Amino acid sequence: RKPITLPRLLDMHAKGEKIAMLTCYDATFAHLQDEAGVDVMLIGDSLGNVLHGAESTVAVSLDSMLYHTRSVARGNRHAWIVADLPFDSYHVSKEEAWRNAAQLFKLGAHMVKLEGGGWVNETVRFLTERGIPVCGHLGFTPQTVVSLGGFKVQGRGDTGAALLKRHALELQEAGAQMLVLEMVPSAVAKEVTESLRIPVIGIGAGLGCSGQVLVLHDMLGISHGRSPRFVRNFMEGSASIQQAVRRYVDEVKAGTFPVDAIHGFQ
Ligand code: KIV
Ligand code: NA
Repeated sequence: RKPITLPRLLDMHAKGEKIAMLTCYDATFAHLQDEAGVDVMLIGDSLGNVLHGAESTVAVSLDSMLYHTRSVARGNRHAWIVADLPFDSYHVSKEEAWRNAAQLFKLGAHMVKLEGGGWVNETVRFLTERGIPVCGHLGFTPQTVVSLGGFKVQGRGDTGAALLKRHALELQEAGAQMLVLEMVPSAVAKEVTESLRIPVIGIGAGLGCSGQVLVLHDMLGISHGRSPRFVRNFMEGSASIQQAVRRYVDEVKAGTFPVDAIHGFQ
């Protein structure tokens, strides 16, 4: 297979070919995910939770993101690599965001992801105009779990949905070339996906998105504690980790995962 490029991802969205994305933090899993046909690997700041044992993603440093981004890039050959800009790395100024994003980009990230709507638009424009592709992240945004008052579905009700749609459109207009929607009612996520020309990747956002993402440890059923509604353990019925990841890719591509009634929100 050919390496995944931005035009290919936009084309997949346009044609309704589902995009399979997973979080990845090291070279061994990057190699495994690449072989399994994962389209997009995310070095998520969820590594604060699953690798460092922290309560939230807030304490994750840029150094941690750089360390894992380098490892994933070394193990990967074909997937599109997205790296999270961690908390406190893009909040003060667009120039500071550039300096931090550029470090991730130099180590092999093809795109950086940042959370939030409205206030990030200027930064998104600044990065994309200078050659670093950006992925937005709306809905439930883990870096602001404290101010959101917990793990809550976002984009509900007329005002919630309208605000989400406005922020999504603004991100696209600012130059973002991908968008993650987390914990959003399926119907709202579907509307956003259909209204944008850039791919929308859902996590707890229903089947109507251009693709899906899960945290690797969650879909392997090895995360500590209660797993959220939108997670499915792909190790159940799989003989190996390789097979579980392959099944995830196959089911996302076939549109059999997620099932809105089981994994989605209203
Ligand atoms: O950090 C992460 O794993 C993420 C995904 C859940 C989208 O941002
Ligand atoms: Na993240």
